[in-house]
Amino acid sequence: MAIARPAWLANPWKQNPWFESVAVAQERARKRLPKPVYMALVAGSERGQTVANNQAAFAELGFAPHVVGAKADRRMSRTVLGQDVSLPVIISPTGVQAVHPDGEVAVARAAASRGTVMGLSNFASKSVEEVVAANPSTFFQMYWTGNRETMVERMERARAAGAQGLIATTDWSFSVGRDWGSPEIPERVNLKAIVRNSPAMALKFSWWWSFLRTRRVPDLTAPNLAARGATKGPTFFGAYYEWMTTPPPQWEDIAWVASTWQQMSGKPFVLKGVTRIDDAKRAVDAGVDAISVSNHGGNNLDGTPPTIRLIRGIAEAVGGEITVLFDGGIRRGSDVVKALALGADAVMIGRAYLWGLGANGQAGVENVLDILRSGIDSTLSGLGVQSIDELTHEHLIIPEGFDLHLGRK
Ligand SMILES: Cc1cc2nc3c(=O)[nH]c(=O)nc-3n(C[C@H](O)[C@H](O)[C@H](O)COP(=O)(O)O)c2cc1C
Repeated sequence: MAIARPAWLANPWKQNPWFESVAVAQERARKRLPKPVYMALVAGSERGQTVANNQAAFAELGFAPHVVGAKADRRMSRTVLGQDVSLPVIISPTGVQAVHPDGEVAVARAAASRGTVMGLSNFASKSVEEVVAANPSTFFQMYWTGNRETMVERMERARAAGAQGLIATTDWSFSVGRDWGSPEIPERVNLKAIVRNSPAMALKFSWWWSFLRTRRVPDLTAPNLAARGATKGPTFFGAYYEWMTTPPPQWEDIAWVASTWQQMSGKPFVLKGVTRIDDAKRAVDAGVDAISVSNHGGNNLDGTPPTIRLIRGIAEAVGGEITVLFDGGIRRGSDVVKALALGADAVMIGRAYLWGLGANGQAGVENVLDILRSGIDSTLSGLGVQSIDELTHEHLIIPEGFDLHLGRK
């Protein structure tokens, strides 16, 4: 049970916890979180070209609004891979983060309260059972790690817990080294790690208090990768080692994992990380139900182009056959409208909700989803559009040469 904050600890400078944009949430998270935790969310790789360009490319696209003729009754709900969502934004899976004591459960609750899907990473700090209990509309994400037997065990566990879909992420390139330095992540949070990290952790009272009041320390294990019968999952580094030493998947492996999941669960299979048209077509041939056009938010091969430049070509090539999701750089409702107008069926968000979680826990994630909802709504209003179903690229101002068609024959 949580301990109530004593009156003498009340913060006289406490601000209104509501924030008006994802950028404000990020700034609040930066101030509130210990630096290594904040930097783990910034992520990115090498010189950070892709992570920066993902966001910057959205600013190259424009709108031409109408002065009269907005529709009063605007709609943004949709069915995505069998799930009815109240807005076309779903939670992208992100790995174990010592951001908040409730971690992925807080995110799942926020997604449920705002009527959308939770994507749960296999590197998450909470179990798939707890997360599905918080949001029955959960998709479980797997990296290609372990052997086929362990993968079947993990899929079986997710199915039994009630996961409504499986996302396989295969774009990770194990790049090491960032020009701005990587945060030091301890193997375990124990007294030694606390003392060692104390300069970075000092003065972050409100963050420490959120853990102290639940009598927990940040959990850096991966419970969804626990061996059958084990009570605890491996540490993050143990899990990473298994992943690094697993031979990378080939297309026949994708066909195998897709059909294994589909047969055991009857639920959809998503391949996350597609950036090329030829790969999107191969994914269709391998039997996937959906792809996510994604460059892992700039965390894989630095120099991969921004995904918003890639979505139109890929959606035109395979959108008639499978569901096409999009992620990378979404920070506002108008970004969501741009991705949909270029052919995405729905978008996934990563850092946007992590900033909300870091700033204000579950309420912060709800706040982010509300910002995106109201931004989508005001963009539809400005465009004079009643429903997201009407959006096309003609609603956008697209500079010449904006779209890239990687792997187009
Ligand atoms: C800190 C962090 C951890 C992530 N962990 C995972 C993960 O475990 N599995 C996965 O499929 N993608 C992971 N991603 C990628 C996200 O799912 C998503 O593709 C990306 O964040 C989208 O870009 P955005 O952050 O600009 O929205 C991670 C991203 C970040 C920033």
